Amino acid sequence: MTSVGHRLASLSSHFSGNSESQMKIVVCRDLGPDVMPLLRSRSELEIVVWPHDRPSERKWLLENINGATGLIVVFGEAVTPELLEAAGPNLRVVSTMSVGYEHIDLTAVAARGIKVGYTPDVLTDAVADLSIMLALMASRNAGETMSLVQSGHWPLHSWSPFGFCGPQLSSDGTTKPRTIGFLGFGRIAQATLARLIPFGVKRVIYTGSPSSPPTLERDQALAKEYKLDSLLRVDIAELATESDVLFVLAPGGPKTRHIVNEEVLRKMKKTAILVNASRGTLVDSDALAKALREKWIWGAGIDVVEGEPQVGIDHCLVKEPRCVVLPHIGSATLETRLAMATLAAKNVLAGVFGEPLPSELNLKG
Ligand code: DGY
Repeated sequence: MTSVGHRLASLSSHFSGNSESQMKIVVCRDLGPDVMPLLRSRSELEIVVWPHDRPSERKWLLENINGATGLIVVFGEAVTPELLEAAGPNLRVVSTMSVGYEHIDLTAVAARGIKVGYTPDVLTDAVADLSIMLALMASRNAGETMSLVQSGHWPLHSWSPFGFCGPQLSSDGTTKPRTIGFLGFGRIAQATLARLIPFGVKRVIYTGSPSSPPTLERDQALAKEYKLDSLLRVDIAELATESDVLFVLAPGGPKTRHIVNEEVLRKMKKTAILVNASRGTLVDSDALAKALREKWIWGAGIDVVEGEPQVGIDHCLVKEPRCVVLPHIGSATLETRLAMATLAAKNVLAGVFGEPLPSELNLKG
């Protein structure tokens, strides 16, 4: 787009004329007809919206952020010192429509006294549902078998006693019980565990962040509630060795980058399933592709890939038949995205009017 085009787009996206007395909120993606009125109905506000359904162009953002009091971004839109500098001293709140916040330079926002709003909790159920779906899809060879149907090759594969079999997730007590592992045991992992109880899950292991305090009481309470035989915190080596299904549900960022690497994958069972519904950076894609190719593990179901969305048909994981790859749709239910957008709008409104944010990220912890 030309610079004249940018300016026209920016002008046309203002809900009213710019007035000195209005506080400006820049919104990097239209939040839809149910949520935008929350912002647009406030006469004290000038709302500037990126007018396309794709990531906002940096140039547009840097131009429009100047003088803003609030900013709404979506997952992946980088909030950098450069952007904060361009915003100037009025900026009070950055609200992200995501539970993850590694796209925000927290040190830089904290240094400027800017609040950060995010959207935890409202997406927990949707991501937990998807985690179960990925575990089932990967173990039951859904990726490979669906592409066989879609490519017209089903007629070549009549039903056969052991055709397309994979390891079973559920156990009725007659089959060997499955050990479920969680790398990260926060809200989404616990919601995933709740969904696994009807599958007959009795043994659960997890690794938490090394800096998190012991959670023995919580674990005992969960084990009692779900009638588990055991719920244990273990180290990552034991997690890899023991898990039949390993759910990766931990935050991204430099501390967890490639935490699932070749060493971990080599320790896993040949029948194990790896599920990643958190951040692509946690799993070394090359190592996972090698693990699948050389059959160190059975399969993988992933909703996130390092470097996404630049994941084409030549990506090493897309090429693996036993890898189910989804394009980061964990929270993509109509109900959840509406709740996330609403919370993102409420967070920005509270921030610009100097009220407590409904869901504020603790920048001190
Ligand atoms: C988040 O909220 O961080 C998700 O990854 C986007 O669905």
